[in-house]
Amino acid sequence: MKALIVTAHPQQDSFTWALTEQFVAGVIASGHEVEVADLYSEGFNPVVSIAEMAGWQSGLVSPEIRAEQERIRNCDGLILSYPVWWSTPPAILSGWLQRVLTLGFAFKHVGGRTEGQLKVRAQMLVNIGSRQRQDVDLAKLYLEPMIGVLHYCGMNVLPSQANWGVYPQADRDTLQAYIDQAYENGKRFFS
Ligand SMILES: Cc1cc2nc3c(=O)[nH]c(=O)nc-3n(C[C@H](O)[C@H](O)[C@H](O)COP(=O)(O)O)c2cc1C
Repeated sequence: MKALIVTAHPQQDSFTWALTEQFVAGVIASGHEVEVADLYSEGFNPVVSIAEMAGWQSGLVSPEIRAEQERIRNCDGLILSYPVWWSTPPAILSGWLQRVLTLGFAFKHVGGRTEGQLKVRAQMLVNIGSRQRQDVDLAKLYLEPMIGVLHYCGMNVLPSQANWGVYPQADRDTLQAYIDQAYENGKRFFS
């Protein structure tokens, strides 16, 4: 089977990229294939244009977006690897979701109901600067909107790997445990 891991971080020496690499190593160790979509180095344009939005009604999709959709069609699992920036994924990933998960491809309206079309498994690897707090449910705030998007499109969403307290001075053992967990999650992804 094949996984597509979409990674949204401009710095190759970031913790996000370290996790992506470990997850990839885990998938390969389990005997499966993996493709990395590096949105920054590929120069993905996350901005929805007026013309494109008009096309959503008539089912018109540009070759650029069709190519991204083909990547999803050709995989059995989708992983999103990103840091939380002001409670949301980086704009490049939000734009990728907005532009690629179009009506007709990712979901359809059938008899007044919405039906997700992407029957693949999915998982998120998310890095978060703050630690979990008691007063605000940050998991609800940061993770649930994205999990909702994946569910809406019909995906089988596995538990997220949310790495709390990721910042440059963080405890080394904690960071290493996150790295190890990413490798294990990669290994287990198709099991
Ligand atoms: C623009 C920006 C906004 C951020 N917003 C948040 C936030 O809302 N909540 C939080 O816990 N951490 C926030 N952070 C911290 C990042 O989540 C943290 O630095 C990142 O996960 C570290 O991983 P990295 O090495 O892959 O960048 C923010 C960081 C940046 C650069």
